[in-house]
Amino acid sequence: TANQMWGGRFAAGPDAIMEAINASIGFDQRMASQDIAGSRAHAAMLGATGILSDKDVEAIREGLLTVLSEIEAGTFQFSTALEDIHMNVEARLKEMIGEPAGRLHTGRSRNDQVATDFKLWVRDQFDAAEGALLSLIAALLDQAEAGADWVMPGFTHLQTAQPVTWGHHMMAYVEMFGRDLSRVRDGRARMNESPLGAAALAGTSFPIDRQMTAEALGFDRPAANSLDAVSDRDFALEFLGTASICAMHLSRFAEELVIWSSAQFRFVTLSDRFSTGSSIMPQKKNPDAAELIRAKVGRIFGANTALMMVMKGLPLAYSKDMQEDKEQVFDAADNWMLALAAMDGMVRDMTANRESLAAAAGSGFSTATDLADWLVRVLGLPFRDAHHITGSLVALAESEGCDLPDLTLAQMKTAHEGITEDVFTVLSVENSVASRTSYGGTAPVQVRAQVARWREVIA
Ligand code: ARG
Repeated sequence: TANQMWGGRFAAGPDAIMEAINASIGFDQRMASQDIAGSRAHAAMLGATGILSDKDVEAIREGLLTVLSEIEAGTFQFSTALEDIHMNVEARLKEMIGEPAGRLHTGRSRNDQVATDFKLWVRDQFDAAEGALLSLIAALLDQAEAGADWVMPGFTHLQTAQPVTWGHHMMAYVEMFGRDLSRVRDGRARMNESPLGAAALAGTSFPIDRQMTAEALGFDRPAANSLDAVSDRDFALEFLGTASICAMHLSRFAEELVIWSSAQFRFVTLSDRFSTGSSIMPQKKNPDAAELIRAKVGRIFGANTALMMVMKGLPLAYSKDMQEDKEQVFDAADNWMLALAAMDGMVRDMTANRESLAAAAGSGFSTATDLADWLVRVLGLPFRDAHHITGSLVALAESEGCDLPDLTLAQMKTAHEGITEDVFTVLSVENSVASRTSYGGTAPVQVRAQVARWREVIA
């Protein structure tokens, strides 16, 4: 039999395959509460504007609340034949309250309805991401504060470069997640316009009040163009783009944790709560949470790419292609939230091994730049000459099998006779990091200033 919602011009019902490819109820039931919120706002507006009688509006309102409680209780029977959440809810409403249910769809289409539901859902996820990022940043600030003056090697090319502080390294991630936070807030602010009342694509001849429904649903204003309102999925793409960049940050951090927790590095000890064992090798403690976080960026970025491809060739306004937006966003949101929560837990639980960090900080000629800078500052040499002289001392130390501070003054003087005992003061890693007081530098005093600034930002 033909569809009860739109089957008036149909003699036959859909093929089973048609039903299978067409139905979205399997996933869009996640928007049930948003759908009912949208319908309640629409119905109240239809009453306030005199389009529907108060009696009908009251019946609809009560009916929708009952439908919601059935869905929340898990007793609601979802039907694939009814395609999506919108028609499932409306059909159940009709069963319960009869004729007034059929009046709910006045001045509305599933096109503005689904855009509204989806926006409300995505907006909630932006809010959840904001909370998760604030929590993760707070956890990183605690790590940074505790180890503001703990020395560790800084790397470029994953080769020892210059000593930095643990706090400085943690604060680098605070900057990254801070930008993610600002992207989240920015995306949320931009998307907060109501599509409801755009109807199918052209607006409606009923005297609806779009301002009223926008306000009721917490939107800042109604979207100004009905064609755009029903065909815009920028909000979903901005969400996925923001999630992708943040997942990339999470993945880089996860990669560092994997390296740092290895027996070769021992920079950090991850807690048992965020590690797993091996079924064959009894000694193993694996950083699986970090590895899975590292992998999540793949599916999140995949969702972003998939939705870009769905949208890129669609003529205005709505096309059914757009039904493919939801599963991508649902999956990306679930996994982004999970990755954020797992990273949050790992950061809160992990222990930085101060001794291992310090031992590594002092190896690999990490203070060679400090030596070159000393030659410039004290002996007045051009930096290029200082660089060359220091390089020859590194080569000497390497051939002697020792580090720079282990060379004797006599050995130092073979590279430049002006070198004095004073040079040894700049060869310690503590001195090196303490000297880097330029704004944004690794000196503990700078790190503590940044921790204080960020505590205010997130307060
Ligand atoms: N289930 C559809 C979706 O997710 C709802 C909109 C259907 N609109 C339409 N004209 N068929 O996009």
